[in-house]
Amino acid sequence: MAKSTLSFVCQNCGAAFNRWQGKCESCGEWNTLAEEDTTGATSMPVSIRSKRRGRLFTLETLTGKSQEAPRLSSGMVELDRVTGGGFVRGSVLLVGGDPGIGKSTLLTQATSLMARAGHRVVYISGEEAVAQVRLRAERLGLADAPVQLAAETSVEDIVSTLSEGAVPRLIVIDSIQTMWTDTVESAPGTVTQVRASAQALIRFAKKSGAAIILVGHVTKDGQIAGPRVVEHMVDAVMSFEGEGSQQFRILRAVKNRFGPTDEIGVFEMTGLGLREVSNPSELFLSDRDLGSPGTAVFAGMEGTRPVLVELQALVAPTTLGTPRRAVVGWDSNRLSMVLAVLEAHCGVKLSGYDVYFNVAGGLRINEPAADLAAAAALVSSLCNAPLPTDAVYFGEISLSGAVRPVSLTSARLKEAAKLGFARAVLPESARGGDAGGDAGLTLGTVGGLTTLVADIAARGVKPTRDNGNSKSTAAEKSAAPARFKRQDG
Ligand code: TYD
Ligand code: MG
Repeated sequence: MAKSTLSFVCQNCGAAFNRWQGKCESCGEWNTLAEEDTTGATSMPVSIRSKRRGRLFTLETLTGKSQEAPRLSSGMVELDRVTGGGFVRGSVLLVGGDPGIGKSTLLTQATSLMARAGHRVVYISGEEAVAQVRLRAERLGLADAPVQLAAETSVEDIVSTLSEGAVPRLIVIDSIQTMWTDTVESAPGTVTQVRASAQALIRFAKKSGAAIILVGHVTKDGQIAGPRVVEHMVDAVMSFEGEGSQQFRILRAVKNRFGPTDEIGVFEMTGLGLREVSNPSELFLSDRDLGSPGTAVFAGMEGTRPVLVELQALVAPTTLGTPRRAVVGWDSNRLSMVLAVLEAHCGVKLSGYDVYFNVAGGLRINEPAADLAAAAALVSSLCNAPLPTDAVYFGEISLSGAVRPVSLTSARLKEAAKLGFARAVLPESARGGDAGGDAGLTLGTVGGLTTLVADIAARGVKPTRDNGNSKSTAAEKSAAPARFKRQDG
């Protein structure tokens, strides 16, 4: 019998220690160490293990007949977009998300559609009873789909059962935290158990060629609970996000060995399950607050798809010693940078104001191209000057206050034109390049942030400017009514 080795494993990062301590030295988290038996994932006696001769395998060359990864479409366009065209045979995908966000719903829908298309699809639920899964399928109108269902948590039983008969094309394990394997002693949900269970399932996927989807819970700070280690083991990690109060759900690839990581899939949660949203811009702009100061429409890109979204800013006098900066949906460092550039180069004094910033619709923006739209929204709120409702903004702001061009200008402009926008405010240098000549928009170009600030201030009802700053007067002097020129082709 193998000697059992007890050690203390951090439930956050997986680091192991010989003795208990309050703080994990590896990740710095407090109170995350739990006692676990880390004898190893095998219960084979050491005497046999050391004598056993390894199996011989053939070594391959880089050239040669390489198999194309055959993909299996899920029947949902938005899901296929994020996976990179469907599930890859023998791959393991981890889907993370907050409880109640709709992971089980999404996977019930996908498995049902695939089963209807004639594939052998297995759904193993470790959290819900078979009757509960059936109830959900009934509610979704998918109860007739030939999905094979079970409520099981033992990995050994699952692997043995699935090894019988035809290899399933897709297996859903809902969720990996409820699985346990008897090769390790720890309780289900601990790092050692989750890691060993995931390992066994990944081995089965590689051997059999079945694609496996693991559902993973997310902790308060947005990480896949405890076993971040699982993220490294699987081929792809998707996160399913959304604001609880809103109906939009966004599926985002965090890691993908077989596809892009910048694509998003957009869904809407309805009473009858998740509806795919093929034109997200329409959704994000559906209830716009037209004509009020502090909002600007950003023409962004999510992977290969242009997405228009409203950015909202509120700049209000502060009553606190240190003004508040609150951001939802954007990087707070990026906001600080834009505020600093506005202050340093455009004479806009913001130290006496609280700044609240929000991206409408629960979308999260990672593109630097959002800088210009964000600055426009901020200045618009500060000057109480509504921006033209038919204009979109995009461009990256540099620390010098210059507005730099961004990629895919024409795709952004075409999407704006499609949604009925009449003008675009974009970096000066973008005009000569691939600025979508046929989009039919009026292009207003800005070379520097000062120009933008002056234009917006000129529209304002009561401009709030820092009079003591000489740069501010320079900006005011250059203030001219909107610098819009009809684009010449
Ligand atoms: P669920 O898929 O169980 O979430 P998860 O597996 O991520 O924990 O979805 C739960 C929520 O979705 C629940 O609050 C109810 C809601 N819902 C709908 O609004 N419409 C539906 O058709 C379904 C099935 C669920
Ligand atoms: Mg669930």
